[in-house]
Amino acid sequence: MVYAAAPEAGPFCSRSRNIVDHDWPRPEPAAREHSEKLIAHVVDVIDADGGWIGFDRYMHEVLYAPGLGYYTAGAVKLGDDGDFTTAPELSPLYSRTLASQCAQILLATGGDTIVEPGAGSGVMAAHILASLAEIDAAPHKYLIVEPSPDLQQRQQQTIASLAPEQLDCVQWCDRPPQSVSGLLVANEVLDALPFERFVVTENGVKSLGVTWDGERFVEQAVAPDAVLDKGIEAIESAIGKPLPVGYRSEWRRGLYEFASDWSKRLHHGVLLWIDYGCSRRELYAAARNEGTMLCHYRHRAHDDPFVYPGLQDITAWVDFTTIAEAAVDNGCRVGGYTTQAHFLIGCGLEQQFNQMRSRVDEQAAASMGKAVQRLLMPGEMGENFRVIAIEKDLHTDLIGFRLRDMAASL
Ligand SMILES: C[S@@+](CC[C@H](N)C(=O)[O-])C[C@H]1O[C@@H](n2cnc3c(N)ncnc32)[C@H](O)[C@@H]1O
Repeated sequence: MVYAAAPEAGPFCSRSRNIVDHDWPRPEPAAREHSEKLIAHVVDVIDADGGWIGFDRYMHEVLYAPGLGYYTAGAVKLGDDGDFTTAPELSPLYSRTLASQCAQILLATGGDTIVEPGAGSGVMAAHILASLAEIDAAPHKYLIVEPSPDLQQRQQQTIASLAPEQLDCVQWCDRPPQSVSGLLVANEVLDALPFERFVVTENGVKSLGVTWDGERFVEQAVAPDAVLDKGIEAIESAIGKPLPVGYRSEWRRGLYEFASDWSKRLHHGVLLWIDYGCSRRELYAAARNEGTMLCHYRHRAHDDPFVYPGLQDITAWVDFTTIAEAAVDNGCRVGGYTTQAHFLIGCGLEQQFNQMRSRVDEQAAASMGKAVQRLLMPGEMGENFRVIAIEKDLHTDLIGFRLRDMAASL
């Protein structure tokens, strides 16, 4: 993790604890202008709400305000020229290995559709489709559910260039389909959903929302509402004791509803959610007393959500226990839960690597080797990223969970 500099005064100024002077690249004038428009919009939202908004509302606006938010406007976002790199961006090896799991599920369900919410640059869709086509297992339809019009366009270009023969089967929409028969696969979507922040004080839990002090956004603690109170109760019940005074963390109000909604739509098949996170008990362990929120700006990871609004991503780890609860409450079951490393190895990463390595030159093989390390190493994505399979009417053991299934730990 690299900490970056507080750039300058005014609305761009950082108030964060951890930011040190470093090599933070300054945004171009057009990007600054864009960010200033977004700041003005969020200030209006705060004014309209009486001077304070919850952090989840702030996050929703800075990431998803139509035409202004980080995901809904034109920033590059993913990859070397953007702010962060995801597993599918690292190497085609990731999506090609994942395709083996997709093929097994499509065969077992007789399903002909893959649904991918939040497809980013479209690179995962392209490599999954190309890989399935090679083994004659391509779906009839690959439906991308993407709220960002800018990303929809980018996805189309990526698929046209990497898997042109598969482009005809890809469709886009900005809302979930009525039902899923077959498979849903989502990488790093849950962590992009807005969350609230809270702190435990001598006087109980406080919600850490956002206000505007005339020059910049600042954090302000207020009494929690009944919904956050219930969320904290569920956390304390999972860890078996009250959270200690001084404990700060995040809680995703909309996660249960989001996961329930997809579970209800699952008619027959599997929802595969992949993200950084863990069980509720692990997520709210005493050692994580500063939470897991991270912001990403030009490959600098830091903890100040008020710097460069609209030009940086904001994320936090996912509580996978909530995904499991939402599934069970809506007639599904947990078909498996494991680390990314175990999942990829179970899906045949090594065989994929050997196959792909034989087709490329030495330099490309070396960079594939590095990608494998990042995908599998515990200090990188191997352990912190988890995969959960939510299934309905599936009577097959999934290959991704055959090496290790930690579902009982949820
Ligand atoms: C961190 S990016 C991950 C992109 C891609 N899956 C990857 O791994 O490279 C998050 C993605 O989730 C999308 N997203 C955010 N909220 C969403 C929602 N409610 N439904 C579907 N996609 C959503 C964003 O627009 C973006 O494409």
